[in-house]
Amino acid sequence: MPRLGVNIDHVATIREARKTIYPDPIAAAVIVELAGADGIVVHLREDRRHIQDRDLRLLRQIVQTPLNLEMAASDEIIEIALEVKPNKVTLVPERREEITTEGGLDVVSNERRIAECVKRLNSGGIPVSMFIEADSEQIKCSKRVGAEAVEFHTGTYCDAPTEALRNSEFERLKEASKETQEIGLIVHMGHGLNYHNVVPIAQIDGVDELNIGHSIIARAVFVGLDKAVREMLALIK
Ligand code: PXP
Repeated sequence: MPRLGVNIDHVATIREARKTIYPDPIAAAVIVELAGADGIVVHLREDRRHIQDRDLRLLRQIVQTPLNLEMAASDEIIEIALEVKPNKVTLVPERREEITTEGGLDVVSNERRIAECVKRLNSGGIPVSMFIEADSEQIKCSKRVGAEAVEFHTGTYCDAPTEALRNSEFERLKEASKETQEIGLIVHMGHGLNYHNVVPIAQIDGVDELNIGHSIIARAVFVGLDKAVREMLALIK
């Protein structure tokens, strides 16, 4: 049974749309935890479009489940991570013009820089996960650079326009998950998962954690955050 990490970035997105002080992602984290989620996820982007430094620092003080910081391998954010000390870091690719994280991190092409980043984070006691495509070379390279886990990008599975494409992408995720566990890395998955597509993914052998944001926060607008988290937990557990 995978654990559920809830990404609360979009609560901050709503706040930043009006530059108000509400809704506060700190309040969201408390509700998410009380509803039974296993972890809180935030992405401190270089452009600070949603989560702010103040959010991360306050979350570090109040979150009682593991706090997972998604971040680019940039010096500025590495320094912040080393100071704030989230329980884990997920390294993601980041482009300013993107709406959300597009595609996985290319660990293979950036091996030396990413290895250095993992080393710095590990030296501060922070384990690191790589947000990658379900690709054998990326998995092996993630192991080489010292990652503890990989998170497979499930966007292609979630957005597949046909049943056949969805099935083949599902098989690719399943195979990659097996290979990852065989070489001794932990498997996470995330991106685009919702109440309609999450169940098969949650049933893949040995998946340790699912990280889900947009669908839960979107549902919360209609049913409330507590109920939205509980409904997702019921599906994946
Ligand atoms: N995992 C990672 C690494 C991500 O970058 C994101 C998006 O911030 C998610 C999971 C959650 O994706 P979604 O909001 O589509 O559920």
